[in-house]
Amino acid sequence: MALFEPFRIKSMEIPNRFVRSATYDGLAEKDGSVSDRQFALYEGLARGGAGLIVTGISYVHASGRISAFQNSIADDHDIEGWSALTRSVHRFGARIAVQLFHAGREKGRIYRKQPALAPSLLAEDPFFDGPHRGMNEDEILEVIEAFGDGASRARDAGFDAVQIHGAHAYLLSQFLSPFTNRREDQWGGGLENRLRLHREIVRTIRKRVGEDYPLLMKLGVEDGFAGGLEFREGVAAAEILAKDGLDSIEVSLGLRGRLYDQTEYRAGITRPDREAYYRHWCREIRKRVNVPVIMVGGVRSFETAEEIVQKEEADLVSLSRPLIREPDLISRWQRGDRSPSTCVSCNRCMEALLEAKPLACYGPKKEKST
Ligand SMILES: Cc1cc2nc3c(=O)[nH]c(=O)nc-3n(C[C@H](O)[C@H](O)[C@H](O)COP(=O)(O)O)c2cc1C
Ligand code: SF4
Repeated sequence: MALFEPFRIKSMEIPNRFVRSATYDGLAEKDGSVSDRQFALYEGLARGGAGLIVTGISYVHASGRISAFQNSIADDHDIEGWSALTRSVHRFGARIAVQLFHAGREKGRIYRKQPALAPSLLAEDPFFDGPHRGMNEDEILEVIEAFGDGASRARDAGFDAVQIHGAHAYLLSQFLSPFTNRREDQWGGGLENRLRLHREIVRTIRKRVGEDYPLLMKLGVEDGFAGGLEFREGVAAAEILAKDGLDSIEVSLGLRGRLYDQTEYRAGITRPDREAYYRHWCREIRKRVNVPVIMVGGVRSFETAEEIVQKEEADLVSLSRPLIREPDLISRWQRGDRSPSTCVSCNRCMEALLEAKPLACYGPKKEKST
């Protein structure tokens, strides 16, 4: 059974093909350190069978922080707490990667007193309302270094890999999208320039962590509205980054539109034909890159996960909401109960987080097992 066979990415051997996709939990301590509730959450995921767990968005630089309840990897003091967390996950045989994050202009939605850093100032934008300003070259270079420092701390803290957040409307997606990047210097214009930030971050991290350390990216390959990043450029970006030395790509959305169907967390995945909504992107990208591809987005049934791996549409299958509702879903499937995830993709978990409530399933009541 391929899904329960180990999979290697450089120095990391993952015990199965299931990834817990990065999921922000709003449970960090106010100073960005790991809380007791996060120990319980991650231990539950590791015990529940996820082969590789990617943490929630962890900011590499204070300018990229988006919440008071978010984890930091921006300071050497963070290493101690993360080390304890990686040790506790490893006890259950799971692997763990930290998601290195900078919010870019999205910070301006939440912290409205100061302009957030963005590739460009957009005077009018139907998708965004928040104070922001274009970054100068020194600020860009500082953020690149911060990603390098974050990765180096991650390796010191015992993380098996790092994942750069290059998706979902945040800083890297803002640079890659011609809609939000209107710069006329070497960081804007054609694809090569809009991808320069990603490539410099990859180059800088690689120098810091060495050749054998797994360097992953969640990459937004198309924006959720017309006039944004097109898939043909998203595939080209994936190809360039894989050639540059990225070790795996989790394929997702770039900038979001207004409707749930224009976000990475589509709602109402209750029928098989709504499942795995990025499989067409993964199929194409997997043919074009020589590194493992991770499929995320609406995978809900064991059969779909199996088909994805058997048909080589992706190498690994990644889940977020199903593991919020049922952290032990993977071990349930492994034990032989193959009924689909009971997550109904209502997104109440996401809506609760936006109201500063902690991560949990706020969806339909679970039936009691007899
Ligand atoms: C509550 C919640 C928090 C999320 N936090 C993150 C995050 O920190 N980083 C990230 O890359 N994606 C995040 N996502 C997106 C998921 O990782 C995933 O890409 C998306 O939900 C689709 O997968 P799913 O259908 O299995 O939930 C989040 C999604 C939800 C619902
Ligand atoms: S609230 Fe529960 S059922 Fe609704 S999307 Fe989140 S995990 Fe799934």
